[in-house]
Amino acid sequence: MGDKQRILVIGAGGQLGQELVRTLVAVFGEDAVVASDINPEKGMYLPNCHFEPLNIFATERMASVIRKYRIKQIYHLAAILSADGEVDPHASWQVNLDGLLLVLDTAKRMHVEKVFWPSSIAVFGGNTEKKDTRQHTVIQPNTAYGIAKAAGELWCRYYHKRYGLDVRSLRYPGLIGHGCLPSGGTTDYAVDIFHHAVREKDYVCYLNRDTHLPMMYMPDAVNAALKLMQAPQRSISIRTSYNVGAMSFSPEEVYHSIKRFYPNFKIGYRPDGRQEIAKSWPLSVDDTIAREDWDWNPKYDLDFMTEDMLDHLARNGKRSVLV
Ligand SMILES: NC(=O)c1ccc[n+]([C@@H]2O[C@H](COP(=O)([O-])OP(=O)(O)OC[C@H]3O[C@@H](n4cnc5c(N)ncnc54)[C@H](O)[C@@H]3O)[C@@H](O)[C@H]2O)c1
Repeated sequence: MGDKQRILVIGAGGQLGQELVRTLVAVFGEDAVVASDINPEKGMYLPNCHFEPLNIFATERMASVIRKYRIKQIYHLAAILSADGEVDPHASWQVNLDGLLLVLDTAKRMHVEKVFWPSSIAVFGGNTEKKDTRQHTVIQPNTAYGIAKAAGELWCRYYHKRYGLDVRSLRYPGLIGHGCLPSGGTTDYAVDIFHHAVREKDYVCYLNRDTHLPMMYMPDAVNAALKLMQAPQRSISIRTSYNVGAMSFSPEEVYHSIKRFYPNFKIGYRPDGRQEIAKSWPLSVDDTIAREDWDWNPKYDLDFMTEDMLDHLARNGKRSVLV
């Protein structure tokens, strides 16, 4: 990608953004990537690329960043996640839906060629089938976050149909990475548990032991976004958001996977409000259409991911921060 084809990542300082930026820099080069976040301090976690502090509600500043760097693609990741969204549902709607509309509108106005925006399995609700949840099914989300994601998917399709904006989207399951600790999500336990294991601390899980949820390891999540963005337009048949699956497990199963390496590791269970959110989500999703359209093919299962997570965290022990 030449210097006239830069990529802007909005909300780059978060769990997904930091990993995505690292990969974009590796693939397209340091000068091709502009990371941005509302929090200017996140710049220190995003080295080797351009960084611009940016709030999605400051649309003129967004336009000037797009102009300055000749941005052709946007990855819009800024969000308030599911558990935090229940604390302030209106703020969740503002950031997750109003914020999306501002990004789509600015992208259209500034002639950005492609936009990536992640949706979530949170669009599904208690009335959706739990196992192998289909692409086209009942969408009745229970959370403020899920409501905004479901509406956002329809707006993405609208901007594509009405204005020709090439917006592409994935319904991510819970994301697990070793890069930074997540917060505010319902699946955060699946990252925290690894940090506890390497520090040889017992873990108390806020979900029940048998709560199965769809999950994905970060390298697969980043690869999915890149593959989707690189697919030819004619291959994209879903303009709301693609189901993408990788693995499905419960807290007890990830605990046993970790115990293979840390036999003294112990887990306890104290479910809180996040159990209710998790209960309304699928156990697994049917991602046949993503596999057919753009060759989606995840690499990591639970045991392979566990090995890789523990290896990285043990080697980077200093970065493992426990709360
Ligand atoms: N983490 C998951 O398990 C998961 C699962 C499904 C979907 N997703 C989606 O993936 C995307 C990224 O998630 P994440 O886990 O990296 O989230 P995160 O909370 O870790 O990061 C979000 C980033 O957005 C920034 N931000 C918040 N408000 C902003 C604003 N007004 N302007 C600019 N930046 C702002 C935050 O400072 C933060 O760095 C989100 O759209 C999320 O809904 C995540």
